[in-house]
Amino acid sequence: MVTIKTLEQKNRPWVIAHRGYRGAYPENTISAFKAAIEVKADMIELDVCLTKDRVPVVIHDTTLERTTDGEGLVSGYTLSELKELDAGSWFSSEFKGESIPTLEETLDQTKGRITVNIEIKPESFESSEPTDAVEIQICRLVEKFGMVESVLISSFKHSFFSRIQSFYRKYKRSNPLRIAPIQGYFESDDAVIELCQREKAYSYHPNESFLTVSLIDELKACGFRVFPYTINDEERMTNLIQMGVHGIISDEPEKLRKVLKKF
Ligand code: G3P
Ligand code: MG
Repeated sequence: MVTIKTLEQKNRPWVIAHRGYRGAYPENTISAFKAAIEVKADMIELDVCLTKDRVPVVIHDTTLERTTDGEGLVSGYTLSELKELDAGSWFSSEFKGESIPTLEETLDQTKGRITVNIEIKPESFESSEPTDAVEIQICRLVEKFGMVESVLISSFKHSFFSRIQSFYRKYKRSNPLRIAPIQGYFESDDAVIELCQREKAYSYHPNESFLTVSLIDELKACGFRVFPYTINDEERMTNLIQMGVHGIISDEPEKLRKVLKKF
């Protein structure tokens, strides 16, 4: 079983394959995840939202047009309707017939082989707090697959994290899942540290353009890890590694592995 603890022992920045091996495979598909495992990425990142019949599926956009041959909202279709769609041909005819994976299928295929960063899309947030809310279903699936030690849960919508805490509180347990706030805009170092402390974060996932050495140093001093997104350029990868990040979220895991060999 590959766990986050085993990665920590490697003492080098982690290769986090964004939406799988997105540079060479259709994003967020089983092919892209298997390819990331084959090129020895340390972790895959994937995006989760709910179908009309409330099944967690792995797809980035709220709509189907960009990455499938369907039209309209993902949340407007049941799983069986979504399973009819082709999620591979838009990328290349070689991947015709690839389908939108459920989170369950994805965990089943990755369990024991790689660690997983599950990003919960903000659009799935429900203020009514239903018992089958996306974040609750994710906790249940991770528990079912015995993957608590191999999973990192991230989101731009930080309110999901307190929901996860409350879910575990109901069972008189403290939250065993590692949490990672994502941020796509600039915040002061103090505000970022405050956010990570409030959310009891494991790591902080900023847009790479807002990352500074002082912020990395402060996060490290407070015991947080830093995984910026999304870096595909060799020079910038090198630069961020020199700045001291703990890992990089990239569409190009093979390129990133090569860059890491220089260190
Ligand atoms: O999780 C990092 C990154 O994936 C966040 O942005 O839009 O690619 O999901 P996005
Ligand atoms: Mg993402």
